[in-house]
Amino acid sequence: MDAMVITDFGDTDVFERRDVEKPSPRPTEVLVQVYASSVNPVDCKIRQAGSWAGISPPTVIGYDVSGIVEATGEAVTDFDVGDEVFYTPEIFGKQGSYAEYHVADESIVARKPTNLSHTEAAALPLAGGTAWEAIVTRGDAGAGETALIHGTGGVGAHAVQIAVAAGAQVIATASPVTVDQTEDLGATRAIDYKSEDFTDVIESEFDESVDLVFDTVGGDTLVESTGVTKPHGRLVTILEPEGEWGASYQKNLTVHMLFLERDRRPLEGLRHLVERGQLDPVIDSVLPLEEVATAHEMVEGSGLTGKVVLDIAGD
Ligand SMILES: NC(=O)c1ccc[n+]([C@@H]2O[C@H](COP(=O)([O-])OP(=O)(O)OC[C@H]3O[C@@H](n4cnc5c(N)ncnc54)[C@H](OP(=O)(O)O)[C@@H]3O)[C@@H](O)[C@H]2O)c1
Repeated sequence: MDAMVITDFGDTDVFERRDVEKPSPRPTEVLVQVYASSVNPVDCKIRQAGSWAGISPPTVIGYDVSGIVEATGEAVTDFDVGDEVFYTPEIFGKQGSYAEYHVADESIVARKPTNLSHTEAAALPLAGGTAWEAIVTRGDAGAGETALIHGTGGVGAHAVQIAVAAGAQVIATASPVTVDQTEDLGATRAIDYKSEDFTDVIESEFDESVDLVFDTVGGDTLVESTGVTKPHGRLVTILEPEGEWGASYQKNLTVHMLFLERDRRPLEGLRHLVERGQLDPVIDSVLPLEEVATAHEMVEGSGLTGKVVLDIAGD
């Protein structure tokens, strides 16, 4: 099968188009023809120096799939040949999705939302799944609450919509190019992180502080947010938090550290929201798989307005 492999760890010039062996499904796995994938920051981190993920070049990376089941292992019960599916492949020690075919255990695979194309659906599994776990599973966002979401890129733009669907009022810190888009996605207030101080905005424009913080940015953003978080509030981060936590424990805050585990459940949640019209994939660009190096350069840069999707089979 055709694939874009990394021949070594390094810069974007490590990508090379190669013919690699088509995988075969084990008993509980499905073989999926990959119609589209997308690029996440973790792809770039693994391309640069991914030995921590248990892979060694030459190999195929890539952690989003939208495609069609081509074959099923003999113990697969939930899928048939021809089913349209989407999922995020396991990272550790596994082959990724920048290729014509991919195999995955059926437990991490879900039916694709019926109202999305493959290129649209491929923007969702990793970024949207992380947003779902942060806002719903860990954050437990509720009606009438206020959620502060830091960063409105791949994960954050979907988190804004999920929090709004949960009934929360959303305040989000965003890059200048996504401020208007973030309010269009349902945020009550998007704060330009380059020109505004989020603590000043929340203190001056919102009567009360926030119930839930979701940080997709890292550094000391999470600890800075404790000052505007209500006692007994919840904070979720997907990056290692830094900074001096001092006496913030006196507020009885709960901090969740989240690393996305592959599972069908969050994908089912996303599918329901998409099919009800409460969640749209947020996409900056769609590039052909051959241009994966350019896609990585875009994700490593700044100023994107959504996901960078890779079209693999034509949609
Ligand atoms: N733990 C997990 O399971 C998990 C899962 C998914 C992602 N992640 C990690 O989470 C991070 C975010 O992922 P992503 O896919 O959302 O990345 P992304 O698409 O690159 O989005 C990041 C967004 O944050 C903005 N930003 C940068 N600095 C900011 C600041 N100080 N305040 C507010 N916004 C700021 C960026 O704007 P600019 O364009 O101006 O830079 C960009 O819009 C990545 O490091 C990724 O590896 C972890």
